[in-house]
Amino acid sequence: MTRLGVNIDHVATVRQARGVAYPDPGTAASIVELAGADGIVCHLREDRRHIQDRDLRILREIVQTQLNLEMAATEEMIGIALATKPDIVTLVPEKREELTTEGGLDVVKNFRSLKKAIQQLRRGNIPVSLFVDPDRNQIKASEEVEAEAIEIHTGHYCEAKTSARADEELKRILDAVGEACRRNLRIAAGHGLNYVNVRRIAEVKEIEELNIGHSIIARAVLVGLDRAVREMIALIR
Ligand code: PXP
Repeated sequence: MTRLGVNIDHVATVRQARGVAYPDPGTAASIVELAGADGIVCHLREDRRHIQDRDLRILREIVQTQLNLEMAATEEMIGIALATKPDIVTLVPEKREELTTEGGLDVVKNFRSLKKAIQQLRRGNIPVSLFVDPDRNQIKASEEVEAEAIEIHTGHYCEAKTSARADEELKRILDAVGEACRRNLRIAAGHGLNYVNVRRIAEVKEIEELNIGHSIIARAVLVGLDRAVREMIALIR
């Protein structure tokens, strides 16, 4: 059964837009868990554009499922992760000017620094997942840097404008899944998934977990968070 991790960053985006105290990501996390999600995901960005350090501390106290911290592999973030102890860290590339995470990590190019970050987090008993494009070389390198898991970037599949392009991108994802299975890496996927494009990804049984944020929070504005989470769970299980 595919697990659902809900990324609650955009609850904080709405709050930060006005610099007020609401809506609170902690309250959202509790509603998400009550609706049956398997985990809470948040991304503490260098520029703190949505989730704040205080949010992360509160989430660590109240999340009862799994807290997955997305972060860049910087000394600052590694220090915060070691102090906060999320259940898992997902390392992502991060550029200040980007709207959202734009692609997977280049594990091949950043091999030494990622290996060091993984070792530091491991010493703190924090397992590490790497957010990577569906590319065999990146997956091979993910095993070599001793990541526990990978999260396959589904953004290109989600952005495909034609069904032929979507088929091509899905094939890339399936190849990557095969490679990760051979290397005994646990497999998650995410980015850009919504209530329509999630179906074909949810059919891939080797993908254990989907991490979804924007589409769920966007739907929640119209139908409520509880219903938005339950509708996604119904699609992916
Ligand atoms: N997975 C990772 C690694 C991400 O960086 C993001 C975006 O923060 C997501 C999943 C969720 O993407 P979306 O908001 O498009 O569902």
